[in-house]
Amino acid sequence: MNIPPGFQLQFSRTRLICRPGGVSSLPEELQQIGSKRWMLVSGTRSANGDAAKAVRQVMGSSVVAHWTGIPQHSGVDVISAMAQHARTNEVDGFLAVGGGSASDSAKAAAILLAEGGSLADHANVFYPPDRYVQQVLTKPKLPIVAIPTTLSAAEVTPGLGIRNNDGHKLVFWDPGVVPRLIVLDAAVCTDVPADVFATTGMNALAHSIEGMYSRVRNPASEGLALQSIRYLSKALPRVVDDPADVVAREQALIGAYLSGLVISNARVGIHHGLCHGLGSMGGLSHGMANAIFLPHAMRFNLEAAQDQLAMAATAFDTAAHALPAAEAAIAAVESVSRLQQRLGLPSRLRDSGLDRGLLPRLARHAMSDRGLYFNPRRASEAEVLDLLESAW
Ligand SMILES: [Fe+2]
Repeated sequence: MNIPPGFQLQFSRTRLICRPGGVSSLPEELQQIGSKRWMLVSGTRSANGDAAKAVRQVMGSSVVAHWTGIPQHSGVDVISAMAQHARTNEVDGFLAVGGGSASDSAKAAAILLAEGGSLADHANVFYPPDRYVQQVLTKPKLPIVAIPTTLSAAEVTPGLGIRNNDGHKLVFWDPGVVPRLIVLDAAVCTDVPADVFATTGMNALAHSIEGMYSRVRNPASEGLALQSIRYLSKALPRVVDDPADVVAREQALIGAYLSGLVISNARVGIHHGLCHGLGSMGGLSHGMANAIFLPHAMRFNLEAAQDQLAMAATAFDTAAHALPAAEAAIAAVESVSRLQQRLGLPSRLRDSGLDRGLLPRLARHAMSDRGLYFNPRRASEAEVLDLLESAW
């Protein structure tokens, strides 16, 4: 309960359905939205997964267009082509099925279709060290419905990231693209490889940890973050032990959903600032970048966010309540490292296939990421490079 004075809070008009078999109620639910010509948007892997199959089956002829080749870090050219395909087919709504790229691409296409121009015109800009300019996007957007099959939580938030042609990630913020309906249906997620849940689960965990210490945290985001950490830390090992465990899959989906509410209100810090570049320039999946980097980022913020990390520690293990704040904050880092090991994830950047020569460029790139703005500790480029080296 160490909240900076003065805060803002926004919750979306999203309706959430969480139950195994929830996809079957889509036709009925979509009547309330009113769209008749849906485009199914999914990644290459998820296009043939159980969730996409179930959606196609229940939606029948109201899916009039498909866009199924979304790459892991969707780029501006993909979005332009996708928006054109939507226009040609007179699409009036997007069904995003799969991981974060499916949701982010649907949101980006909705922005481009409504706002016109080029996507980059609508991106937010951070001018280091402390000026952040958020574009105000007011035109009405086509409705989006999301059926997530990973734990990225992209479907929850008004934010999104799309790779520019030079490898930089353009970031957007538009409450108008938040999905109108989210279906958490664990029964259509058991075919998703457990390691995808493990890595994207670490991304969700990072949302909640960074939400705990963000400069714009508030009482609601703090409560949601703690609950999200409880769900994720318990569910992820169970998913890895038994990928067919529908209850564990559902609890992981819930933890991820809560983490999306956290970042919608508290945003993310230096950890995400670096993970954006590790993905768009270094070629790591967002989940893998998160899986490796989180304990390193927490250590970087250990002093500046001591009380908040101490509180996070109690969500991993209630015994942390008895520890002095400095020890509890370290316990939070150790809990994340233990979870990393338990899930069989790498802990060093050198184990990810990243080219070490990229580190100075990644540090420079991170300096213009808005994650640094929301981070509790200010960082120079040299300090960011040190952090990358220590994670190496
Ligand atoms: Fe993330």
